[in-house]
Amino acid sequence: MAVKRPSGPKGALIMGNASQFSEDEPTFLLENVKKYGDLVYFRLAHLQTYLVAHPDLIREVLVTQSDKFEKAPLDKQILGKFLGNGLLTSDGAFHRRQRRLAQPAFHSKRIHNYAEVMVDYANQIIGGWQDEAVVDITEEMMHLTMLIVSKTLFDADAITGTGDTAEIIGNAMNDFQAISNRDYQRGFSLPNWVPTADNRLRNRAVTQFNAVMNQIIAERRKTAVNNQVADKGDLLSMLMLSVDEDGEFMDDKQLRNEVATLFAAGHETTSNALSWTWFLLAQHPEAEAKLHEELDTVLAGRQPTLADLPNLPYSLQIIKEAIRMYPPAWILNGRRALEDVQLGGYTVPKGSTVFVSPYVMHHLPQYFDEPEAFKPERFTAEFEKSLPKFAYMPFGGGARVCIGNAFAMMEAQLILATIAQKYRLTLAQTEPVRYKTQITLTAENGIQMRVLERETAVSPTPELAFA
Ligand code: HEM
Repeated sequence: MAVKRPSGPKGALIMGNASQFSEDEPTFLLENVKKYGDLVYFRLAHLQTYLVAHPDLIREVLVTQSDKFEKAPLDKQILGKFLGNGLLTSDGAFHRRQRRLAQPAFHSKRIHNYAEVMVDYANQIIGGWQDEAVVDITEEMMHLTMLIVSKTLFDADAITGTGDTAEIIGNAMNDFQAISNRDYQRGFSLPNWVPTADNRLRNRAVTQFNAVMNQIIAERRKTAVNNQVADKGDLLSMLMLSVDEDGEFMDDKQLRNEVATLFAAGHETTSNALSWTWFLLAQHPEAEAKLHEELDTVLAGRQPTLADLPNLPYSLQIIKEAIRMYPPAWILNGRRALEDVQLGGYTVPKGSTVFVSPYVMHHLPQYFDEPEAFKPERFTAEFEKSLPKFAYMPFGGGARVCIGNAFAMMEAQLILATIAQKYRLTLAQTEPVRYKTQITLTAENGIQMRVLERETAVSPTPELAFA
């Protein structure tokens, strides 16, 4: 018997809706939800696809019936080539074990220790800026978040320029991301042994990454007393100290996979969040002025610290609104149905792919008044309380909610406060800034911005003042 399907856009005979989809994915998804409703059916070549765009149905997919889904094979295939079977790509009992083992590394007490590192590195980056210079802010933010993740993950000291480790890993990661984006565009990834330029580049990146990581892990093992390595304060230490319910530690291969995963998941996302924030602020001088006023009042020229964050509510509202409009994870990894699943009155057949898109949810007018307008003020405590869960979901949800959520928000708020205190950023390009859908939502050709020193710049430290 034919399966009754939800409505959706008409597609071509063989490729289905693939070409409409790839033209501009977020717009395609959003328009079809507006036209067809909370559950939309379409086809991407052979993939039977369901887009879920109602908070109750998203809860079904990510929470209530989540055990009936696995991460889509395409995501596992492409991402798994570099990340192996880590948190992002694994499923079921194995994923649950890894998640439990990794969770202590993200305990608030632990990540709070990283606040100073985040501020220091932000200062280091702007130390290289000159008044009125033009920078590509996407590159600057990427460099900054890469330094922060290297330091907090495995204590790599890259900032001095002696950091070969961080440089090798950073380059390997850049190659992996660029190749993965190309694979996603093609819709497949050829087996590693096929001698394409991309495969050769990726194999080299994996070899280099593994060599460095294996060395770092081996050094750490040498410090072990009774199987407990010395705690260097970073995320890797926590991963190495964590034991499962059978008293087992992660083995070296698994550690390598989780470090790669945290590195990959933990910098481009936050970097995009910040780049979009600067872009939006440059176009909304009233919001920018309000931000400066908050920073000048609360910090009065001091460097921000963790303790300041609760007193900088407008900075936080700005970030929340920026990642509402431009969610770095614009779509979650596809979820493949492991069996027939009942959803919204329909049967989603085994083998189909279900998509959930934070971009779509964040642009629906039933949840966000004037969704295309930048209004940080909308994020009041009452508004957030009144929002259905999963209407706002920049970090996903359910058991696979982003493990780095608190880390990322703290990082973004501290970087925004550190930089905005000293600089105003204005747009320095006439061509429109367009988004590009890669693994994350980035700017198509970067964003050229002019950095202008603010008059109320941070006062020099006493040592410098009297030098
Ligand atoms: C603004 C920054 C960030 C955004 C918007 C973001 C978003 C997300 C989203 C939406 C997911 C769920 C993916 C899915 O369900 O398919 C996710 C998962 C994940 N994120 Fe983040 N993320 C950010 C920063 C970070 C950071 C800083 C780290 C680590 C240092 C991190 C590590 C991870 C990991 C390991 C997962 C997989 C979790 C699992 O499946 O158990 N993310 N992230």
